Amino acid sequence: MPLSGRWTLTRYLIEERRRFPGASGDFNALVLDVALACKAIARIVAFGTLPGTPDTLGTALHAGQPPGAATGGEVNVQGEVQKPLDVLSNAIFVRTNEWNGHLAGLASEEMEGPQQIPASYPRGKYLLLFDPLDGSSNIDVNGAVGSVFSVLRAPQDVIDSGRDVIEADFLQPGAAQVAAGYAIYGPSTMLVLSVGNGVAGFTLNPHLGEFVLSHPGIQVPEETQEFAINSSNSRFWEPPVKRYVDECLAGRTGPRGKDFNMRWIASMVAEAHRILMRGGVFMYPRDTKDPAKPGRLRLLYEANPVGFIMEQAGGRASTGRQPVLGVKPSALHQRIGLVFGSKSEVERIERYHHEPVPSDAPAPLFAPRSLFRA
Ligand code: AHG
Ligand code: MN
Ligand code: MN
Repeated sequence: MPLSGRWTLTRYLIEERRRFPGASGDFNALVLDVALACKAIARIVAFGTLPGTPDTLGTALHAGQPPGAATGGEVNVQGEVQKPLDVLSNAIFVRTNEWNGHLAGLASEEMEGPQQIPASYPRGKYLLLFDPLDGSSNIDVNGAVGSVFSVLRAPQDVIDSGRDVIEADFLQPGAAQVAAGYAIYGPSTMLVLSVGNGVAGFTLNPHLGEFVLSHPGIQVPEETQEFAINSSNSRFWEPPVKRYVDECLAGRTGPRGKDFNMRWIASMVAEAHRILMRGGVFMYPRDTKDPAKPGRLRLLYEANPVGFIMEQAGGRASTGRQPVLGVKPSALHQRIGLVFGSKSEVERIERYHHEPVPSDAPAPLFAPRSLFRA
């Protein structure tokens, strides 16, 4: 039985590995390097915009430039402006993990294509996919941000041949993940991890510089009265989402017969963490805002790792139409509608997507008890 407050992340990983007597330990070493990257990012985030941000891993991006002043301002492959901390966090993830011989390649929100392992290092059997800084718009307002990562096994021919990785090697469904997790940089720094045997949460002990097990066996509460959605998009929502939100807003006298609370942090990692701790449902559904973007969040390094964590914690993650972990990806930076959290709510939202929309139904947003009363 894991000992809360006494087990370090290293001990947790070693105890988990004992379930697999043949395991080499490569995987554990990889997770520890990911955790190191998260600790380094936590330090940098904690310094805010102060000059002289400590680059504890020596990840200066450009020789002669102070790390705190590292680039940014450029547009990533998503068409989003990169903040300096997006760029620096990405570099920390790459530098901390490319050398250890456990990876065949890396992919990130901030890099257009797969990142090869430099020729000077051995290549391993895993692929690491990550969003190095999630919710980075919160940086300017000193709100919670995080990092989120997914570990896949490289295709066998990549392992056998040691060839360069290509995009197709990463296009595996979320159900194939070996591990997934996130770090949240909030009032305390936490790492929440699943290696496929439930979900464990570790809090960074700043005195030790170690992640210490604080939340063993995390379970998403099944019932909830809290939802999270960016309602400024409501005019673009599809009818099942409008219906679900309308019914929540209708409260005690509506079809749900109870009042709901709402939260929106604009940081998926922080949202996922709240839901793991006290239940709830998060929606960034497919909408009609931009036909070129079927959803806001990215499948491979946002939806899949959070989906894996939710399912491992007894919750559920869905596109609205099907379990997110079953989706066969078609592109590295593919976007997708995402709904996750307490199982019964996610199942209800899926059910609404499968039920026909009544043809005589009033436009839900302007119906009685709607967001905007007609
Ligand atoms: P990122 O900072 O990595 O681009 O991700 C931000 C994401 C996600 O964390 C959050 O849930 C969502 O974008 C917020 O979107 P809105 O700005 O539409 O609220
Ligand atoms: Mn993100
Ligand atoms: Mn990001």
